[in-house]
Amino acid sequence: MCCGPKFLFCLLALVSSAALHTAALPSFSDDTFGLRSRLSSLIPRRWETRWSNVGKRQASSTFETDANGSEFLWVIQDTYEGQSFFDRWSFFNLADPTHGTVEFVDRQTAFNSGLAYVTDDNIVVMKGDNTTWLPEGGVRPSVRITSNTSYNTGLFILDLNHAPWGCGVWPAFWTVGPNWPQGGEIDILEGVHNNENNQVTWHTGPGCTLTPNASFSGSLAGNLDCDVTSGNNAGCGIIEWSRASYGPYFDAQQGGVFAMKWDDLGISVWSFYRQAIPEDITNGQSPNPSTWIEPVAQLSPSGCDPLKYFYNHSVIFDITFCGDWAGNSYATSDCPGTCAERVMDPSNFVNASWSINSLKVYQKISLTGKISSAERTIALDARVISLIACLLVISFAGL
Ligand SMILES: *[C@@H]1O[C@H](CO)[C@@H](O)[C@H](O)[C@H]1NC(C)=O
Ligand SMILES: *[C@@H]1O[C@H](CO)[C@@H](O)[C@H](O)[C@H]1NC(C)=O
Ligand SMILES: *[C@@H]1O[C@H](CO)[C@@H](O)[C@H](O)[C@H]1NC(C)=O
Ligand SMILES: *[C@@H]1O[C@H](CO)[C@@H](O)[C@H](O)[C@H]1NC(C)=O
Ligand SMILES: *[C@@H]1O[C@H](CO)[C@@H](O)[C@H](O)[C@H]1NC(C)=O
Ligand SMILES: *[C@@H]1O[C@H](CO)[C@@H](O)[C@H](O)[C@H]1NC(C)=O
Repeated sequence: MCCGPKFLFCLLALVSSAALHTAALPSFSDDTFGLRSRLSSLIPRRWETRWSNVGKRQASSTFETDANGSEFLWVIQDTYEGQSFFDRWSFFNLADPTHGTVEFVDRQTAFNSGLAYVTDDNIVVMKGDNTTWLPEGGVRPSVRITSNTSYNTGLFILDLNHAPWGCGVWPAFWTVGPNWPQGGEIDILEGVHNNENNQVTWHTGPGCTLTPNASFSGSLAGNLDCDVTSGNNAGCGIIEWSRASYGPYFDAQQGGVFAMKWDDLGISVWSFYRQAIPEDITNGQSPNPSTWIEPVAQLSPSGCDPLKYFYNHSVIFDITFCGDWAGNSYATSDCPGTCAERVMDPSNFVNASWSINSLKVYQKISLTGKISSAERTIALDARVISLIACLLVISFAGL
């Protein structure tokens, strides 16, 4: 009775009734109903698993699970790449708040003087000037850009070939909220001089501390208190273990991917060599950080509420010279002369450039709404009834 084409026919009827059921009961997935149908093309394999689990809709392990136990996916919100990369950024051209020996140029100047451009093969470049000789004390032209969009939580994935470095150079890829330090600051990729280990740092208002026993592979930079008024604005930081996470070796192996995840579960940062980027990042589908290796850095919600101390973050790329970090640490950096002398010669800045393939920002979309046991019973009943109906039709039609 249940073999061959007949069985397939019934299975088809069953699946379509299930689809109908979903349409008839929007509360099945709360406000995410529209999304489900879009997702089905994204992740067909997952749906098969779902239908084979009819009646026991428990969390399936390859979705991520929120603090409240509901399942979610990271879905792309913004892609910054290629010729349109710079459309949704503002060029910051005021004095450097970190006191660098730098002149941040406006959009027009950046493009006209070749400090910002996109190559024919869609690589985004931003750099410090490396053609102008300066008198001692002169400021070197460079670029600092801020995303027009601000974000509340998200998964930020930066794919880059090259990050700036060199004596006197201080680049950062970071996010920051309004009313600093109240809205918080997350430094994702940052370093100075010829450093080889990336440092991840948080800066906040009072009340936020780094939990040292959280799950991360880097080592503490020092301060646990992220409050900028403690420790002279050092923030709370974690230094990556890998010597290829910043500077010469990072660039020598064609860069890689930095990912920052900010949600109710905390703020985590990963960095991957180009050879070790997880497939769910490279295949352009829904990345699932819970399947990745341990993050290099993490700010756990047990010491810092990630939704209270961080909000409305813009993304920033910048390259400055000397200043609060690179200037103050210059004498102990094994770099020649003074930082002010270093800035004079343009050939010292050949490696002071960003080369970016893409920045993608994903938002969390909840998959599981509240589903009552009554609804679950109805769901099951609908399938049983459709199966019986299907078998009846088959026997009447003598198929
Ligand atoms: C679970 O938490 C997330 C994020 O805080 C929220 O968006 C979602 O609506 C919550 N789900 C339920 C079922 O409460
Ligand atoms: C982003 O902001 C800049 C400067 O404020 C503006 O020139 C640009 O048009 C904005 N881009 C978009 C897409 O709104
Ligand atoms: C860290 O240790 C403290 C005290 O032992 C514990 O209460 C807390 O849950 C731990 N946190 C994490 C993230 O493991
Ligand atoms: C975040 O930005 C939104 C939209 O601009 C604004 O309404 C809200 O007040 C901001 N939140 C905080 C805490 O500043
Ligand atoms: C730039 O990078 C190359 C390759 O790693 C290195 O040999 C050179 O010394 C660097 N130059 C400066 C000024 O940092
Ligand atoms: C400036 O740096 C770029 C790399 O960012 C390099 O290709 C170029 O040759 C340098 N220009 C000079 C004059 O050294």
